[in-house]
Amino acid sequence: MGYFTDKAILVTGGATGIGRETSKAIAAAGAAVMIGDKDDRAGETVEIIKQAGGTAEFLPTDVTSAEQVNRLVAHCVERFGRMDGAFNNAGVLPPQRPIHEVSEDELDLAIDVDFKGVFFAMQAEIRHFLSVGGGAIVNTASVGALIADPNMAAYCAMKHAVAGLTKAAAVEYAQAGIRVNAIAPGFVVTPMTQHWADSTEFTDMFFQHNISGRCAQPEEMAGTVKHLLSDDASFVNGAVWTIDGGQTAH
Ligand SMILES: NC(=O)c1ccc[n+]([C@@H]2O[C@H](COP(=O)([O-])OP(=O)(O)OC[C@H]3O[C@@H](n4cnc5c(N)ncnc54)[C@H](O)[C@@H]3O)[C@@H](O)[C@H]2O)c1
Repeated sequence: MGYFTDKAILVTGGATGIGRETSKAIAAAGAAVMIGDKDDRAGETVEIIKQAGGTAEFLPTDVTSAEQVNRLVAHCVERFGRMDGAFNNAGVLPPQRPIHEVSEDELDLAIDVDFKGVFFAMQAEIRHFLSVGGGAIVNTASVGALIADPNMAAYCAMKHAVAGLTKAAAVEYAQAGIRVNAIAPGFVVTPMTQHWADSTEFTDMFFQHNISGRCAQPEEMAGTVKHLLSDDASFVNGAVWTIDGGQTAH
């Protein structure tokens, strides 16, 4: 029996990076995985999962649309007969510039995807969990929810908002059997951060200040997400867990 046998879990942003690797890990642990993403490479994630003997589906979804996210939750329940947990992971890193140079469009991108995308997903998931007596939600925040880096103000502000939203939802719905937690990854090599990983100047500077002396691979996020979604974490609620190799401890 796997960790999530007979369970169904929804993942947003499962086309690449952390979402893809976590979807694979959740499926390998027995769950049926419903992926919502606006990138068709989510179909590749589904194929990888199926070839490994798992169950997964992809519904093209833009998380900035409440209507599309509602449809995603309904589709998960319709196709798999249930939804036990959700990993709200879709996100974007807008172009990096100092605050006085950020355009309104770039600001809106961060607000729409990194904040409203998580908010809309949680609304739809919570409505379902209230109707079935509970569930578990994990949001992807960032170390940018705890500290700030230069030229990433809108991203940092929206990730701080995700941490606040996580705690607010935990407080509102604990009595309804819904747990809401977040992960706060440090530097993980994914399509979002490949430009940093490819820059020796950046990595030399970063590794000097990170006690692990390296960045993470996306699959290193999956174990914590699985744990937080599972009953093993039954008393973890409203938490924002860093997965940063000690970056913010230093
Ligand atoms: N890579 C890192 O170092 C790092 C660090 C901290 C937090 N994060 C967060 O991790 C999450 C995953 O990012 P990643 O690093 O795997 O990058 P990624 O670019 O590989 O993954 C982001 C995913 O979100 C999807 N997405 C973007 N906008 C969307 C939209 N409007 N609707 C639906 N899906 C959308 C993308 O298609 C992609 O599949 C993000 O929330 C990101 O902010 C990443």
